Amino acid sequence: MTNRSNALASSNTTQDVGDTQEQSQDAGPTVFAHPSEREFAQILDFYGLRWAYEPRSFPLRWEDDRVVEMLTPDFYLPDLDLYLELTTLKQSLVTAKNRKIRHMREVYPEINIKLLYRRDYHRILAKFGFGPLAQTDVKGIDRVLFTAPQIQRRVAELGRQISRDYDEGLEPVLVGVLRGMLCFMADLMREISLPAEIEFMAISRYGEPDRQSVQVTKDLDHSIQGKHVILVEDIVDSGMTLNFLLGYLQEKEPATLVVSALLDKRARRIVDVPMKYVGFEVPDEFVVGYGLDYLEKYRNLPFIGALRPDPK
Ligand code: PRP
Repeated sequence: MTNRSNALASSNTTQDVGDTQEQSQDAGPTVFAHPSEREFAQILDFYGLRWAYEPRSFPLRWEDDRVVEMLTPDFYLPDLDLYLELTTLKQSLVTAKNRKIRHMREVYPEINIKLLYRRDYHRILAKFGFGPLAQTDVKGIDRVLFTAPQIQRRVAELGRQISRDYDEGLEPVLVGVLRGMLCFMADLMREISLPAEIEFMAISRYGEPDRQSVQVTKDLDHSIQGKHVILVEDIVDSGMTLNFLLGYLQEKEPATLVVSALLDKRARRIVDVPMKYVGFEVPDEFVVGYGLDYLEKYRNLPFIGALRPDPK
């Protein structure tokens, strides 16, 4: 967001990695250039993703020996080796920023950087009921993305695929994370022609009172140690939830752990998470129905639809 002309800072030191309260005892609290950056840092904290704020500047253009343009990405996520640049600028003003990011990728092809637009950021907030989009009076479904028969066909294919892959006396345990996966889980389990167990978990969501970090509010009822676990999700969006869940379940020492997600909103991915069984890729829109909600509505639609586009 800011294009600082200060001296280059070192990156990727533990001292640079902090939380919203305090970056380190020496460094003191992080001073953010914009409130949206603070909010974003809180979301990263919530999902247990370590970050450093503006830890490094990348020179982009030189005149003689002098650096005349550089980019200081807002965040570095050391666990993902990923830089994130947030832009709260209006969409119409981001062309220059886009050009800069493209330029950065040419000069530093080994650096992994993603640009989050104002709209992306607002959508992340809206998912938790915050920000301007959460106040939007949604007028209803814009169009159907997948009809009920299309969903049934695809879920049946996934069930057959899973039945083939596990057909060696392996009894998968399907783990569903409440609540969006409800319809998908119910249909998928009946398309698997093997003995299978089911388990459910629930986790806290960002913005709930007194929750600084994601917590398991309902844990598995049985041990999954040495078992073949399939984590069932309705949608993978930023990937932050799945990243947390995979880490959490891995600690329970399953023999194998894979993901089956009905929908993959790849365009919004921040954390690249492995997904073995995917139903459909979906566009970067609010999708609802077949278990998925928008502010707790639309879950009981039998099809999957896109809400009317944002008025902004
Ligand atoms: C949805 C979905 C995933 C998560 C994915 O849950 O079920 O758990 O979002 O988002 P991410 O990839 O950006 O982390 P949601 O918070 O909507 O709760 P719900 O399952 O109760 O609908």
